[in-house]
Amino acid sequence: MSKSFAVIGDPIDHSLSPNIHSAAFREMDLDSSYIAYRIPKGELEEGIEGLKKINIHGFNITIPHKIAMMKFLDKMDESCSLIGAVNTVTNKDGILKGYNTDMDGFLEPFKKRKLNIAKCKVLLIGAGGAARAIVAGFAKEKASSITIANRTPEKADSLSEFAKTIGLNSNSIEIKEVRETAKNYDIIVNATSVGLKNEPSVISLQGINEKTIVYDIVYMPMNTDFIKKAKERNAVIVYGYEMLLGQAVRAFEIWHDMEAPYNAMKKALLGGF
Ligand SMILES: NC(=O)c1ccc[n+]([C@@H]2O[C@H](COP(=O)([O-])OP(=O)(O)OC[C@H]3O[C@@H](n4cnc5c(N)ncnc54)[C@H](OP(=O)(O)O)[C@@H]3O)[C@@H](O)[C@H]2O)c1
Repeated sequence: MSKSFAVIGDPIDHSLSPNIHSAAFREMDLDSSYIAYRIPKGELEEGIEGLKKINIHGFNITIPHKIAMMKFLDKMDESCSLIGAVNTVTNKDGILKGYNTDMDGFLEPFKKRKLNIAKCKVLLIGAGGAARAIVAGFAKEKASSITIANRTPEKADSLSEFAKTIGLNSNSIEIKEVRETAKNYDIIVNATSVGLKNEPSVISLQGINEKTIVYDIVYMPMNTDFIKKAKERNAVIVYGYEMLLGQAVRAFEIWHDMEAPYNAMKKALLGGF
C-alpha cells in the first residue's frame, strides 16, 4: 500500500524536505509520497486531525510547532523527551510517536569525518531550540565542557543549567563577552539564525587554526560569513546542510526501517541550492 509523509510548519514553501525524501523513495523504489503542508500557528490540532484522517504514515515538524507538537504525542522516544521538542513523528493506527532527529543529525558529520568530540572544549553560539538538541548531542558524546554564548543572557543561563543536569560541564556568557577567546576552543558552533540574511558573523574567529572545528547550522546560504572567516583560517568546516541531511537520513530510517540512501538524498538537497 502506498504511504504518505509530510513536513508541517509555517512558512513551509521553501522546505527542502520534500525533495530529499522523494529522492530517497525513488532511489529505493518505494511507493511513497511526501508533501509540504502549511499549518499556521494556533491551528496545529486541526492540522494533525487532518493528517490522521488521510492516514499519514509519518511527518516532520518545523518552525513554529516543534515544542507545541509535544502535547499531541501518545508516545515519545528518549531523544524527544530529553530535548523537549519533536521534529519527527510516526503514526501507527492513530498512535503518534515523537522523535527528535536533530541531535543525531547534528552529530552525523562528526561521525562521517571520524572527528572525536570526547574531551573537546566547545563554544556554542545561540541558545534556541536547535541549540538544545546540540547540547544534548555534546553531552551524549562526552565533550569536556561547553560555553554557551547568547545575545539574551537568561536563555544561555537556562540552557547551561540544562547541560549540567545531563552531565555536561558548562557555563554561560553573553555573545559580546566572546571577544578574542574563540581560539581557546576545539569546536565552535553557530546555532543562531545569524547568517540567513548574509549578516556578518556575531563573533571574531581570530586566532583559531587548522585544527579548530567550525560548524554553522545555518544552511542557506551554504557559505555564511562565519564559514568564510573559518575558511580564511583553514579550520575544519562543517556545513549546516550536513545537519539537515543527517536529520532527514535518521527520519527515513525511523519510518522505513532500512538504511537511507545517503548519497541520493545529498544530491537532491544540494540540487535545491
Ligand atoms: N541545519 C539544520 O538542520 C538546522 C536545524 C535546526 C535549525 N537550523 C537553523 O538554526 C537557526 C536557529 O534555529 P532555532 O530553531 O534554534 O531558532 P530559535 O529557537 O528561534 O533561536 C534563535 C537563536 O538565534 C539568536 N539570534 C537571533 N537573531 C540574533 C541576532 N541578531 N544576534 C544574535 N543572536 C541572534 C537567538 O538569540 P536570543 O535568544 O537572544 O533571541 C537564539 O539564540 C535557524 O537559522 C535555523 O534555520 C538549522
